[in-house]
Amino acid sequence: MTSPISVVFHSGYGHTREIAKAVAAGSGGVLLAIDEQGELAPEGWAQLDASRAIVFGSPTYMANVSWQFKRFADASSAVWARQGWKDKLAAGFTNSAGINGDKLTTLYTLFSLSQQHGMLWAGTAMPPSNTKAALRDDLNYLASFAGLMTATPSDASTDEMVAGDLATARAFGERIAQVVGRIG
Ligand SMILES: Cc1cc2nc3c(=O)[nH]c(=O)nc-3n(C[C@H](O)[C@H](O)[C@H](O)COP(=O)(O)O)c2cc1C
Repeated sequence: MTSPISVVFHSGYGHTREIAKAVAAGSGGVLLAIDEQGELAPEGWAQLDASRAIVFGSPTYMANVSWQFKRFADASSAVWARQGWKDKLAAGFTNSAGINGDKLTTLYTLFSLSQQHGMLWAGTAMPPSNTKAALRDDLNYLASFAGLMTATPSDASTDEMVAGDLATARAFGERIAQVVGRIG
């Protein structure tokens, strides 16, 4: 196995992929992309089986995960049947256009998926940047605790991701690696 941490995500237009890459860079995790049909390659499922931590990621579409991510989640019922992810660490992230955009619903879907599997959920544990002096490029400017939230303006290309969001994603990945190290 190349890493004990997997970052499994869907991205329709590439923005969530950039966030996933930053989470993987921070955690040293393996990136696993769910494709446009909502499928993950067999080697990807094997990597998830072998992981100690799985970080789930999806864009927020219409206030929830993309249908491709949901197809992956439904397919994971085969893993559930043999309790294959039980007691693994879990965490989640989502990217959307709005600063709010109903991202919390998406994170709750990822959290609920983890709890169906009997996993152990880690939030951000990151102080929020929420004072008058706060700047958009500060760490955790979106002040999310349940999981990583990032926001990309709807007309921004994948080269125009918010630098502070990428830094927050990297720091979130570092936290996941620290927790894995702590719980063994
Ligand atoms: C079908 C669809 C639904 C969307 N719904 C929301 C939404 O509920 N809230 C929001 O803030 N942005 C919404 N967006 C914007 C996307 O979340 C945003 O463009 C995001 O960066 C896309 O990520 P991706 O490039 O990884 O697909 C939606 C976009 C699409 C295509």
